[in-house]
Amino acid sequence: MELFNENSKLATVIHKDHTLLPVINRLGVKLGFGDSTIKQLCVREGIDVTFFVEIINVFHNESYFSKKKLLDFSVTVVIDYLLKTHKYYLEYVLPEQERLIDLFLLNCQNGCKENELIQKFYNKFREEFINHVEFEESRVFPYILELNEMVQHPSKKSVLSDQFKNFTIKGFEQEHSDMDEKMLDLKNIIIKYLPPNYDLNIGNSLLASLFVFEKDTKNHSRIEDKILVPKVRQLEKMIKGDE
Ligand SMILES: [Fe+2]
Ligand SMILES: [Fe+2]
Repeated sequence: MELFNENSKLATVIHKDHTLLPVINRLGVKLGFGDSTIKQLCVREGIDVTFFVEIINVFHNESYFSKKKLLDFSVTVVIDYLLKTHKYYLEYVLPEQERLIDLFLLNCQNGCKENELIQKFYNKFREEFINHVEFEESRVFPYILELNEMVQHPSKKSVLSDQFKNFTIKGFEQEHSDMDEKMLDLKNIIIKYLPPNYDLNIGNSLLASLFVFEKDTKNHSRIEDKILVPKVRQLEKMIKGDE
């Protein structure tokens, strides 16, 4: 298993794994960086170099996950990265997939009644995905930031706001696996069941986009489940003690 480090040249990293492109963008790096190493770029852009290296390694290697290292990062750094990822999904990936589905439906022969199944499944997935992201942004992340504030500045903030008094993170991980299942169904409709009476190249582009999105969201969920949830428990314990 190859791991990148702060002395790796970012251009070499991208040549090895171009799926990291949106990842480095949301970490704050744009292309045109010549032969700079990760460390040089992070210093120049004011990015936490250890966090940058951890995230690209988590993304590049499915089997790599240094829970200990990731738990050391401040919740604000982790949440900032997750919010940028949400923005990328909502503002770029979903509209792009809708465009591909429209093309897919337009370019088929003989009415393609069955192909509309894709639209139906995609709409369901999209709705659930957007609700999930909204729940994280309106409830989960603010709750964690508030807990964090109480631990960091106990003199400024000593009690939780009313809206979070009875808040629970229970069921959060389950939502991620429900979405994974819906994505698998969506891909299988095209791979296994639809009659191939559509434009094959457009079908392949749509599938490729679903595969890339699946990989990205799985890594995203992994960070939320394995880092954010334990962080919440850690912060709750510091505030409320063992209950
Ligand atoms: Fe998220
Ligand atoms: Fe999530």
